[in-house]
Amino acid sequence: MKKRVILAYSGGLDTSVMVRWLTENGYEVITYTADVGQGEELSEIPEKARRAGAVEAIVEDLKETFAENYCLPTLKALALYEGKYPLTAALSRPLIAERLVYYAEKFNADYVAHGSTGKGNDQVRFELSVWALNPDIEVLAPVREWEFKSREEQVEYAQRFNIPVKATKEKPYSIDRNLWGVSIECGPLEDPSQEPPEDAYQITTSPEKAPDQPEYITIGFEKGKPVSINGNKYENLYKLIVDLNEIAGRHGVGRIDMVENRLVGIKSREIYEAPGSIVLYEAYRDLLSLVLDRFTFHYFLTHIPHEYAKLVYEGLWFTPLRQAIDAFTNTLAELATGEIRVKLYKGSVSVVGRKSPNSLYIEELATYSEKDQFDQIAGKHFTKVWGLPLKVLGRVKTGKNR
Ligand code: ARG
Repeated sequence: MKKRVILAYSGGLDTSVMVRWLTENGYEVITYTADVGQGEELSEIPEKARRAGAVEAIVEDLKETFAENYCLPTLKALALYEGKYPLTAALSRPLIAERLVYYAEKFNADYVAHGSTGKGNDQVRFELSVWALNPDIEVLAPVREWEFKSREEQVEYAQRFNIPVKATKEKPYSIDRNLWGVSIECGPLEDPSQEPPEDAYQITTSPEKAPDQPEYITIGFEKGKPVSINGNKYENLYKLIVDLNEIAGRHGVGRIDMVENRLVGIKSREIYEAPGSIVLYEAYRDLLSLVLDRFTFHYFLTHIPHEYAKLVYEGLWFTPLRQAIDAFTNTLAELATGEIRVKLYKGSVSVVGRKSPNSLYIEELATYSEKDQFDQIAGKHFTKVWGLPLKVLGRVKTGKNR
């Protein structure tokens, strides 16, 4: 009996060659392709997959699931890996893995396969996610072991088996795109001392070429979920993200250039474009600063964004830890209703106004005008008590305590 495998299939050269390679190595291949907002036409995918040798090709629209169940929790945690990367590629892996497992079970397949290399993070994310959901499934990663050393060898192999290869001039970059942003690596980016060439960027205008006039937009949140732009309500979160990518992208917002620590110990230079998500992060952070008391806000900032980013980056999506942190951020999100006004201008996003029915800002307490209701004498006593340890320290240091 043939061994059956569900392959995560993008339709590109790598995974098309993989369909054939797996077939030649005795597997029956069913391809699986998800629309996570990569902005590509997927209607030709089944035809492509079959021509490469697949017995079946599944294509699924996961945009809304991805937005609601993956992007939104990550936003609520304000998770940025190493303080910069909004985890775009990292986030899609557990979702795709979940669907691979679903179809493996449905079609009685003992194997799933992915196109990630042995040097990257994605292999770890796919495999840990699959095992967490079904430990009996074996995961194949042909790129880690097949014989091809170059694109040319793959093209030759494809031609030998009549797999159509697009005649497009090869871009030197490796690009992974979804709703939450674009990850770009390889080619000239591998020299971290050099500014990324303009053609590396896919969805943002360069700040230099962005409009000379700023654009103001208002983002409405309900219990932590972005629901409107300029008062226009969105039924689907993914559509809001798509529109925000377009609006902020034209202003050159959300370009990130970093050297990051991969799981396998390598440092790599990557660039990202995440216009929509970066605007949402700025806006959500500001909203939390308005509605959370100091103790809760500080606890959140100290403990959540970095931890959550690490667990997503490190392939730990399907853990009780992630669920528990989600429960925590959802509790805070209950308060996060309001409107945040942001200004987009030549690559920058700044919050310039905020409003919330749950706002803890009290003008009578903050003001320096005659409306002031704060008891300044209380400030004197507070300072005296708060400062007591330093006073004691000063006494001992200067020898004035005896
Ligand atoms: N370094 C990022 C991560 O590990 C992005 C990797 C995505 N792959 C790519 N072909 N750019 O999440």
